[in-house]
Amino acid sequence: MKLLLINGSAHAKGSTWAALSEVEGALKEEGIETELFHIGVSPIQSCTQCGVCHEKGDGLCVYDDAVNVAKKKVSGVDGFVFGSPVHYASASGGITAFLDRFFFSGGDFAFKAGAAVAVARRAGTTVTLDQLNKYFSISGMMTVGSLYWNGVYGADAEEVRKDGEGMHTMRVLGRNMAWLLKSVEAGRKAGVQLPKTEPKVWTNFIR
Ligand SMILES: Cc1cc2nc3c(=O)[nH]c(=O)nc-3n(C[C@H](O)[C@H](O)[C@H](O)COP(=O)(O)O)c2cc1C
Repeated sequence: MKLLLINGSAHAKGSTWAALSEVEGALKEEGIETELFHIGVSPIQSCTQCGVCHEKGDGLCVYDDAVNVAKKKVSGVDGFVFGSPVHYASASGGITAFLDRFFFSGGDFAFKAGAAVAVARRAGTTVTLDQLNKYFSISGMMTVGSLYWNGVYGADAEEVRKDGEGMHTMRVLGRNMAWLLKSVEAGRKAGVQLPKTEPKVWTNFIR
């Protein structure tokens, strides 16, 4: 069982990294393989809705950047944790552009686990979590919670590590995520079937 953690900050070793590292430590203790992926500092193109990804159907975006590097990992993982610093009471522009294309280009997301983590100096974590959690719910994923909303406070990694309740929330999130992955795996081995599917109904509200 493997989990992909995506650091949506420009800082490779900043506050978001510190929060995700705490989640990662708990996952590893529970025997879950992890990979921490940094979206980097190069500009990330926003989605242009060109539709080429849907024509190709290979789950990759026509803009071949960090999004495609991460997309190639999707089929090999059982869940995701997306971390973002709060920028003007929302997720960072980088992770928003990244996740729009990550999900819009399609792929093997349904029934996998997902959790978001937001990091702020002072305010905006719950709004950011509301934003990030929406990628999971529209993709048929199972959203994992903790003992508080998944927010951590601090202006840098050092301050974040001093947020005792935030760090506790991150560790519990990691353990809850590990529990869900193990439960899904146990269900699969016991023969629990995925829910019945239907052809998608596509209605653009024109009537
Ligand atoms: C453009 C920008 C906007 C920000 N807006 C907020 C904000 O609305 N609320 C807040 O508490 N912190 C805000 N911050 C501070 C960062 O969220 C905070 O320093 C965070 O720890 C940075 O995480 P990182 O090191 O992972 O990038 C902002 C920072 C930047 C660069």
